[in-house]
Amino acid sequence: MAARRGAILSEKFGAVLAFACPGITETITRAVHNEKETVMSISSEDILNAFYFRHACKEFDPDKKIADEDFQTILETGRLSPSSFGFEPWFFLIVQNRRLRERLKQFTWGGKKQIPTASHLLVILARKGYFMRYDSEYITSLMRNIQKLPDDVIGKKIDVYKKFQESDFKLLESERTLFDWASKQTYIALGNMMTSAAMLGIDSCPIEGFERDKIEQVLAEDFAIDTELFGISCMAAFGFRIKEGREKTRQPIENITRWCNH
Ligand SMILES: Cc1cc2nc3c(=O)[nH]c(=O)nc-3n(C[C@H](O)[C@H](O)[C@H](O)COP(=O)(O)O)c2cc1C
Repeated sequence: MAARRGAILSEKFGAVLAFACPGITETITRAVHNEKETVMSISSEDILNAFYFRHACKEFDPDKKIADEDFQTILETGRLSPSSFGFEPWFFLIVQNRRLRERLKQFTWGGKKQIPTASHLLVILARKGYFMRYDSEYITSLMRNIQKLPDDVIGKKIDVYKKFQESDFKLLESERTLFDWASKQTYIALGNMMTSAAMLGIDSCPIEGFERDKIEQVLAEDFAIDTELFGISCMAAFGFRIKEGREKTRQPIENITRWCNH
């Protein structure tokens, strides 16, 4: 993990963003690499500062590139994201080729400036029914080879997963239902990657403003993606802002919460 020193001053919020000061970097590294030590020390202020820092960046400085090490960290936070039953329904394309970016831009009204200027562009795919159905080869082999579950546990987990898909969540009603369920989990990875980027002082923009059918056609023709197996969830651009974003607007907490204590 890069030890990014120094501070970024966010004048709008009067907050000093002390990103990954040496002490914090050390503690996080220990927590990641030493399973016995789970104490994580990062202050509420640092967390909130990262959330204020993150905004949907509309245009990046095309001359500034994210360090490889930092982008690997961002991807790693996507990989480590939680998923339903742990079945990891995502796949990430990192699109650095200019021609391929241009093809995506053609049908992406929400990313006209972000796509060409981003240091790194992600296309986030979600796995379709071929992988995600309870009886698929992918699910069984993931439980056996990645989750290292014994056969009897795999059998029981498939039974629970079958009920979950068939009746609890009714995910098998159409290909689209199952795909949307997989797709919504990819947004957890998206959120984590944008947050970790912000913690490293890196800007981002989630992008859903595109013509889905046309983009899937591009993915099939130009990226050799089998769109029977994978569909697009969203894109995410990462880089460094070329100018300050608009002030953050959010409803007050009272408008979006209700405590249910009694
Ligand atoms: C799923 C999703 C899709 C989005 N798609 C786009 C997009 O295509 N283009 C864009 O400029 N912003 C896009 N945004 C950014 C939102 O407009 C932005 O997050 C929102 O207005 C709040 O502003 P903030 O992120 O700067 O706080 C998207 C955000 C999300 C979560």
